[in-house]
Amino acid sequence: MRIAIAGGSGTVGRHVVGAARRRGHDVVALSRSDGVDVVSGTNLDRSLVGVEAVIDVLNRTTLATAKSVGFFTAATQSLLDAEERAGVGHHVALSIVGIDGIDTSYYAGKLAQERLVAGSRVPHTIARATQFHEFAEQIAAQTSFGPIALVPRTLSRPVAAAEVAEHLVDVATAPPAGRAPDLVGPRDETLAGMIRRMSAHDGVRRRVIDVRFPGAYGRGLTSGALRGGDGPRRQGTLTFDEWLDSPDRLR
Ligand SMILES: NC(=O)c1ccc[n+]([C@@H]2O[C@H](COP(=O)([O-])OP(=O)(O)OC[C@H]3O[C@@H](n4cnc5c(N)ncnc54)[C@H](OP(=O)(O)O)[C@@H]3O)[C@@H](O)[C@H]2O)c1
Repeated sequence: MRIAIAGGSGTVGRHVVGAARRRGHDVVALSRSDGVDVVSGTNLDRSLVGVEAVIDVLNRTTLATAKSVGFFTAATQSLLDAEERAGVGHHVALSIVGIDGIDTSYYAGKLAQERLVAGSRVPHTIARATQFHEFAEQIAAQTSFGPIALVPRTLSRPVAAAEVAEHLVDVATAPPAGRAPDLVGPRDETLAGMIRRMSAHDGVRRRVIDVRFPGAYGRGLTSGALRGGDGPRRQGTLTFDEWLDSPDRLR
């Protein structure tokens, strides 16, 4: 099957490209570093010729509601319009477990993305996953000032990006289903705990201070909602500590 991975150079995107190729699929990566700008449309139509399924793992990292909504709305609409022109038969969007009711900050963009996909004429599946183990690396990099990291207080059930990638390829190669079972990790974790263990594991001296974010966003992070509810779910198996030593940790 010819599959396009939008965001194929990103944290999870690189795993999706690898997982799809290992299963023998013909893979096209769509990212600016591959010469394709999904928002402006540069080289987008020509990249989708013959594509049967698109997996959208695009991202813009921001805590600003307007920027997040602006990016995910523009990118998703541009991608869906191009897919309709190209006759793509399945759009798969990666979203985040437990964000209903947290319609602010970064998550407002993800909910706007989900609404566009759900209302699209392109056959689709929204696949939600919990935070990646790799999220600890992303947050540590963004929040470290010298030896101190100011980390948002967060309770989650993280999963390896490699397992998310395998799940997304399963979803993309099955018929469009509207919504896939949530993918959750094997154990509850706090972000501060993960970053402390990662720093010790890597021999990095870092004092991790967890800070409760204000407002609905902060409540969402600490409430446990991001761990997932009682609905249909699939469970990843690699724990965070196993992931720290795993060959698929891309550093
Ligand atoms: N991080 C988590 O824990 C987590 C958990 C669940 C779900 N998710 C979801 O997973 C998705 C991917 O997250 P990630 O952390 O893997 O992202 P990431 O590492 O920030 O990668 C983002 C990707 O998007 C591409 N991109 C950005 N703007 C683009 C544009 N205008 N045109 C084409 N490509 C563009 C980037 O490539 P270029 O810069 O080369 O363009 C890159 O390949 C997000 O939608 C996120 O919400 C994340």
